[in-house]
Amino acid sequence: MDEPALSRLLDAAVTGADPLEVMPPVPGPPGWTAARRDAFLAFHRGRSLDPATAVERTWVVDVDGAAAGAARLERHGDAVEAGIWLSRDTRGRGIGREVTRLLLAEARTSGAARFTASTTPDNTGARSVLAALGATLTTEGDEIRADLRLG
Ligand SMILES: CC(C)(COP(=O)(O)OP(=O)(O)OC[C@H]1O[C@@H](n2cnc3c(N)ncnc32)[C@H](O)[C@@H]1OP(=O)(O)O)[C@@H](O)C(=O)NCCC(=O)NCCS
Repeated sequence: MDEPALSRLLDAAVTGADPLEVMPPVPGPPGWTAARRDAFLAFHRGRSLDPATAVERTWVVDVDGAAAGAARLERHGDAVEAGIWLSRDTRGRGIGREVTRLLLAEARTSGAARFTASTTPDNTGARSVLAALGATLTTEGDEIRADLRLG
């Protein structure tokens, strides 16, 4: 991701996803308010684009030539945590599975010992993608943690 890609990603998020699917909660009325758009940009600049504060690598997922979502890898000690979201009209077409496979391949080359992810019990798509990779899924409160040993 770079600044032009971040701008395309914001468009994809605004037209095809709920704010809570793609970034931490921001107070205020529902929907893509100006405050949430600004927070979305600040979130990705802080976490990926600004070398002084970056904690993760983020890729924009393009589908048929247009931004459709994001995928990320964040190092935590010997583990690398993966995350992904896709816009509504591109879900359920096998893209999440394919992008997760690419993230896993990238994680393997990074030298990490474990590949992890978290989701919620109601997220059937994410749980299915992670289980199909061979990850162990465990429930912790209202979160499902996926863990896959690498190498
Ligand atoms: C979760 C997400 C990334 C999955 O990507 P996707 O491209 O929709 O998933 P795929 O089409 O690759 O499908 C993968 C599997 O999940 C299943 N699946 C996908 N969406 C599903 C749904 N809504 N209900 C039930 N099963 C679903 C598919 O049937 C497939 O399983 P199968 O191969 O056993 O048939 C995507 O739906 C998404 O972005 N959701 C909103 C944001 C989000 O929840 N992100 C994840 C947070 S951890």
